[in-house]
Amino acid sequence: MTVSTRVAIDPFGADIIAESARLRSLGPVVPVELPGGIPAWAPTGYDTLKALILNPEVSKDPRRHWSLFPKIGEHPEWSWIMGWVGVINMLSTYGSDHTRLRKLVAPSFTARRTEAMRDRVEAITAELLDQLDAAGADGSVVDVKAAYAHPLPMQMICELFGVPGHLREDTGRLIAALMDTSDPSPEQATWVQEQIGTVLGSLIAHKVENPGDDMATELIKVRDEDGDRLSDEELLYTLLLVIGAGFETTVNLIGNAVVALLEHPEQLAAVRAGDISWEQVVEEVLRVRPSIASLPLRFAVTDITIDGVTIPAGDAILTTYAAAGNDPSRYGEEAAAFDATRAADDHLSFGIGVHRCIGAPLARMEAMTALPALFERYPDLAPAFKPDELKQVPSFIAYGWQQIPVRLRG
Ligand code: HEM
Repeated sequence: MTVSTRVAIDPFGADIIAESARLRSLGPVVPVELPGGIPAWAPTGYDTLKALILNPEVSKDPRRHWSLFPKIGEHPEWSWIMGWVGVINMLSTYGSDHTRLRKLVAPSFTARRTEAMRDRVEAITAELLDQLDAAGADGSVVDVKAAYAHPLPMQMICELFGVPGHLREDTGRLIAALMDTSDPSPEQATWVQEQIGTVLGSLIAHKVENPGDDMATELIKVRDEDGDRLSDEELLYTLLLVIGAGFETTVNLIGNAVVALLEHPEQLAAVRAGDISWEQVVEEVLRVRPSIASLPLRFAVTDITIDGVTIPAGDAILTTYAAAGNDPSRYGEEAAAFDATRAADDHLSFGIGVHRCIGAPLARMEAMTALPALFERYPDLAPAFKPDELKQVPSFIAYGWQQIPVRLRG
């Protein structure tokens, strides 16, 4: 395939799994166009993606390694990508800058530190179930995403970072807008950039005035004590990353698991009978329907030849987790089917290598708490949607359902 026949990635992400299968049929690394026409390369299989992520000649720093970065201003329809590559935090840095920024946050999310959060996760879960009870008491349909999957990780991350109640709604709206790739208009991109400054700027101002026992206060202290370790800009964007990544992804993990189980009642019955563990459910959902379907962007530092395809130095690479998780050469012909007996603990859906997810223990703990609690409280929980009726969130980055209508009591 020549680079002139780039495949346009669906900005709405309407059927990410089918799209990744189509791309895979075109080759191991396919030239694609992101919304607005941004050129990139998409690896389409597990081994190829893993090799590229682990290749030290693949960077995440657009300022140093993306040949088109200086030209974004000439293309207003590309400006949405600045919400991902124009922000300076650990997700968009390389080498020593990455190590410095990661070290400021990662120690707070180790397995041990996460375990200390369990009591709060359980308490929030219990409160939400009581509220859900009230909402669905008369047998009416409840959106279990809005009423349960969303508020748990949102409340938890807001507590960890000391986000006050009056900023939570705006924070939720900002992260949803950042994930929404269906409108690459310059107006939308400008709105997102302004909101980043306003919402996170207000959070920082609030925490300076009202310091607390929370991670935002800790980061502000680092900035104030030593600007070489964390600049003003890095503080703002680190908060954006960790708060955003800290809830939106886990919301979709919980939601995707609920839908997978409701669509596969035989597997739900096996879980209830103790023949399939909740851990297996969570890992299989992560593999087959990863909350981050693909992530912009990585960059080739030198020419990289992989599986017979050369990605020229300075070109952008999309990190394609959904394609890897659904790759038949790794997971067999039924790769795209949800099968919690598979025990696929090798998925890449939390990343791998130096950028691997720092929040994986928290995400797993939240899902492993929320899911059993929901299905135990409601033994007759039933879908209030028909097959193929649910709609994906408008994003090629996030994989999750817009709403998940259920009946709590059958
Ligand atoms: C189901 C839930 C989650 C999924 C699927 C997920 C997925 C990912 C993936 C794929 C990466 C690697 C990015 C890369 O290599 O380019 C990553 C990195 C990251 N995640 Fe998560 N994540 C989840 C939950 C969380 C939570 C709860 C937090 C917050 C505590 C978090 C914070 C981060 C951060 C800060 C990074 C950047 C690490 C770095 O670049 O060094 N994530 N996540």
